[in-house]
Amino acid sequence: MFKQFLMKRAKILHGLYRTSVRGHSQGYAADRWWDEEFFTKGLSDRQTISQDKSLLSAAYHYASVEMLILRHLVKENFDLHSKRICDLGSGSGHWIGFYLSLGASACTGVDISSKSVNFLGEKYAKDNRVTICHGKLDQILQNFNDPYDLVNAIGVMFHLVDEEEWQRVISEVSRILKPGGLFVVGGHFGWFNNLNVQFNSDDTVNKKLRSAAHWRRILRSERLGEMKIYRNRAYLFIRDSLPENNLLVATKV
Ligand SMILES: C[S@@+](CC[C@H](N)C(=O)[O-])C[C@H]1O[C@@H](n2cnc3c(N)ncnc32)[C@H](O)[C@@H]1O
Repeated sequence: MFKQFLMKRAKILHGLYRTSVRGHSQGYAADRWWDEEFFTKGLSDRQTISQDKSLLSAAYHYASVEMLILRHLVKENFDLHSKRICDLGSGSGHWIGFYLSLGASACTGVDISSKSVNFLGEKYAKDNRVTICHGKLDQILQNFNDPYDLVNAIGVMFHLVDEEEWQRVISEVSRILKPGGLFVVGGHFGWFNNLNVQFNSDDTVNKKLRSAAHWRRILRSERLGEMKIYRNRAYLFIRDSLPENNLLVATKV
C-alpha cells in the first residue's frame, strides 16, 4: 500500500521536474497518435489504459470509477432512466455500455481515433440508442444542438494538453448540458496546475494534469459552479499502476 502511495507521488514529482525545471513541452499530435502509437495491438477496455494492461487490473479500475459515479448518482437521486448522455473520448465504449445499462435512452460517443470509431460503429451497429461521431471534441461538440442530461469524460480531459482547446471543450460541454445536468470527469485534480506527466519518444507531452483549483475556476466561469471531487483509493490495494481516476462531478446551474 505504501509503495503504491509513493509511486503516485513520484509521478507527480517527476511531472513537477519536467514542467518547472525543463520547461515548456510541445503538445502531441492527437489526430495521429491514438491510431498510430497507442491502439497498436487492438481495442478493448483494458487496451484503453495501455496495450498490455491486465484484464483484472482494468476491470478493477473501471469498477472503482463506476462506484464513485454511482455514489454521486445515488446521493443526488439522479435517475438515468430516459436520459440523454454524451460520452467524450469513448475508446472501446465502456462508459456508453455503463450508462445504457442504467436506463439512458440515448448515448452519443465522440472520439478522435478512427480505430475507436470503427470499433464502436460495429459494436453498436444494431443499437439505435447509440450515435458515434469521429473527430476532435472541441470541433465536434460545436455541431451539437440537442441538450444532454449528462456529459461523461473519463480518462480524456488530461489528454487535451492545449489549454485553449481544453477550455473550449468545457465551454461546449456547458452549452450542451441542460440546467441541472452533470459533467462527470475522471482525472487527478491535485494541488499542482498544468503538470506535464506523460511523454512520447519525441519528447512531446500527451498528458497534462490540471489542479482542482484551476478546474474550479474554469467550471465556475462556465456556469458549472457546483463541483464535487471523489478521491479514488483503489490504487492503494493492488500491485499495478492505474490511470489517474479520481472523479469530478460538476452540475450546470
Ligand atoms: C485513455 S482513453 C479513455 C477511453 C474511455 N473514456 C475509457 O475510460 O475507457 C482516451 C480516449 O480519448 C480519445 N481522445 C483523446 N483526445 C481526444 C480529442 N481531442 N478528441 C476526441 N477524442 C480524444 C482517444 O482516442 C481515446 O480513445
